[in-house]
Amino acid sequence: MKLPEELQFIANSRKPQKRTTSRIDGQICVITGATSGVGYAAAKRLAQGGANLVLVNRNLEKAQKVKEEINKLYSVNIDLLQADFTDLAQVRKAAETILSRYPRIDLLINNAGLHMTRRELTKDGFEIVFCVNHLASFLLTMLLLDRMKESQPARILQINSQGHRFGGLDLDDLTWANRRYKGLQGYGASKTAQLLTVWELTDKLKDSGVTINAMHPGAVATNIGMNNGLLYQWYQRYFLFPLLKGPEVSGEAIYYLAAAPEMKDVSGKFFNQTVEEKPAAHALDRETGKKIWEISMKLTGLRE
Ligand SMILES: NC(=O)c1ccc[n+]([C@@H]2O[C@H](COP(=O)([O-])OP(=O)(O)OC[C@H]3O[C@@H](n4cnc5c(N)ncnc54)[C@H](OP(=O)(O)O)[C@@H]3O)[C@@H](O)[C@H]2O)c1
Repeated sequence: MKLPEELQFIANSRKPQKRTTSRIDGQICVITGATSGVGYAAAKRLAQGGANLVLVNRNLEKAQKVKEEINKLYSVNIDLLQADFTDLAQVRKAAETILSRYPRIDLLINNAGLHMTRRELTKDGFEIVFCVNHLASFLLTMLLLDRMKESQPARILQINSQGHRFGGLDLDDLTWANRRYKGLQGYGASKTAQLLTVWELTDKLKDSGVTINAMHPGAVATNIGMNNGLLYQWYQRYFLFPLLKGPEVSGEAIYYLAAAPEMKDVSGKFFNQTVEEKPAAHALDRETGKKIWEISMKLTGLRE
């Protein structure tokens, strides 16, 4: 039975995933949120492929352990930077440090993310999920963009989510001041905003040698959501996790998109792990995309 287009992602998640054995020895790969789950699995797989890693994490102690674990297996360079993505000033500082240390950047993987069941604002007044999942990755990408153009060929990968299908993006109420906060929609709003800016950036990067794609890393058992209440944690641990795969499948998929030679010129696509897929219609609305681009530029203090 063929599923309707909007449910095709269910069938896609069961399709065989692509892999690559290509190596990316010596490439400089910046990856955010590598202290657990998808980011950790991706960092490990990238190190296996020979990449030197620049890990941007909020918790340096956890990051140090990740570095030790990966270096026990692979002798690549691993640099650790600290930034909490609820604070855009820390994202700016991390970007400045990266630019001062690395004359080239081959890969940028924006992975850090979270899901909240309740509304919370950052100290700058952003809804926290929107800030971490969208604004921080937008800002980091924009600040590293010129260096990536100088380093071409280079690739940017946004670790997005099927969660974008929950919608929730209201350009007039990004802080959820006028609506009751719903966690899945808050998450959906952040991922929709990120996807919409991917299409904008794809156009701006045309012929630059830098590609940008977004992907859903699979439904995998990680720490996501474990910052929420005890009931949520209990449900996730005992009911959800047993049904999910481990994040190694995400690491393998990310590696494919980051390293496969056949992905070199592919840009502006959404992948269900490694299977190209059509996102939800609301995440393809270019009019909204132009508006969220302008808003994101303004909120992050960037100028065209
Ligand atoms: N797991 C899934 O099934 C799934 C499905 C679709 C999409 N995703 C996406 O995959 C990405 C990774 O999530 P995950 O599932 O691997 O979750 P995770 O295990 O919770 O990992 C999230 C990573 O983001 C970091 N992070 C969270 N808040 C941060 C902040 N304020 N500043 C800086 N870093 C922060 C975490 O750091 P700490 O270790 O310090 O907490 C951790 O390194 C997210 O973008 C998520 O939306 C996951």
